[in-house]
Amino acid sequence: MLNSKIIGVGHYVPERVITNHDLEQWMDTSDEWIRERTGIITRHWVKEGDTVSGLGLEAAKKALDHAGLKAEDIDFIIFASMASDHDFPGAGCFLQEKMGLPGVPSMDIRNACTGFIYALSTADKFIKTGTYKNILVVGAEIQSTGLDLSTRGRDMAVLFGDGAGAVVVTATEEKDKGILTTHLHADGRFAKKLWCEWPSVTHHPRITKEMCETDRIYPKMEGRFVFKYAVTYFPQVVQEALEATGYSVEDIDLFIPHQANQRITEAVAQRLGLPWEKVVSNIHKYGNTTAASIPIAMSEAFQEGRIKDGDLVCLAAFGAGFTWGSVLMRW
Ligand code: COA
Repeated sequence: MLNSKIIGVGHYVPERVITNHDLEQWMDTSDEWIRERTGIITRHWVKEGDTVSGLGLEAAKKALDHAGLKAEDIDFIIFASMASDHDFPGAGCFLQEKMGLPGVPSMDIRNACTGFIYALSTADKFIKTGTYKNILVVGAEIQSTGLDLSTRGRDMAVLFGDGAGAVVVTATEEKDKGILTTHLHADGRFAKKLWCEWPSVTHHPRITKEMCETDRIYPKMEGRFVFKYAVTYFPQVVQEALEATGYSVEDIDLFIPHQANQRITEAVAQRLGLPWEKVVSNIHKYGNTTAASIPIAMSEAFQEGRIKDGDLVCLAAFGAGFTWGSVLMRW
């Protein structure tokens, strides 16, 4: 029986830093409001011409370097993102072209903030069934170009950042290392609690000039509702992973949650009874980077020496859909 194991991690964020004070110039908000409610101080936003596959490529190069592999060693690409370089196809094919891997399968996963967990879980299954040996899993996002930067959109616009993270997952015969269990969930009854309504195929044509003059082309969220479900489902899905493997919260060496909001992360850690030093939080620097947030946080934690050989590492996410999930692994 093969196991799947992460052997390379990398991340990349665009150079352009947007502070809370920058946002104050465009909308009625304040550094104090943003810090207090979200913990965010800065986020990185792309410049004109940047692509989500391009961000993914930079992260992928670093993950490959870390793994000691070349692009040609990759036999499957999984790209988690809400965005693509163009309306279609998905960013996975644009990345595959940039990597020079014609013929290598490339799959797109569009599960918002839980996208990376869905992608990693998919990679795990393809490796455990012996289908592929080295899988590149990318979480990348460009949110900034789709936000309403006026006061009307301030509740969403202050939260999001752009960036990418990538991991190389490989097949190993080691019994006690690698991904131990993955758990995925969704509840479409709440799809419209965090969504973007237009463009929509229900309209003929799906996008019109009139639409662009309304706020219905921008993402919308019932913030308090989302918050309530996030702090319930995050701990639940971590417990599910622990129960499946016979571990307890005390056994976790490092918890890397999706970076939605500092207050959500603190509430989840408290509900689980996890000491703060075992929790990775970098939202103050990057904001919420959706599918990119977990691999960025994992890559940084690794660089900072916070993930050591043999550590029990738990990943968990919650986001639009609603979707939520967890991965428990032995590093
Ligand atoms: N700057 C200043 N004021 C703002 C603001 C901003 N950026 N955004 C909203 N406000 C205002 C509101 O208009 C409201 O004003 P009012 O009281 O005069 O009506 C007030 O602040 C409170 O708004 P509310 O939405 O109730 O704030 P909140 O305490 O719920 O905090 C969030 C808002 C978004 C930070 C919070 O709901 C949250 O974190 N939700 C989860 C978000 C999330 O993580 N989503 C992604 C999941 S993956």
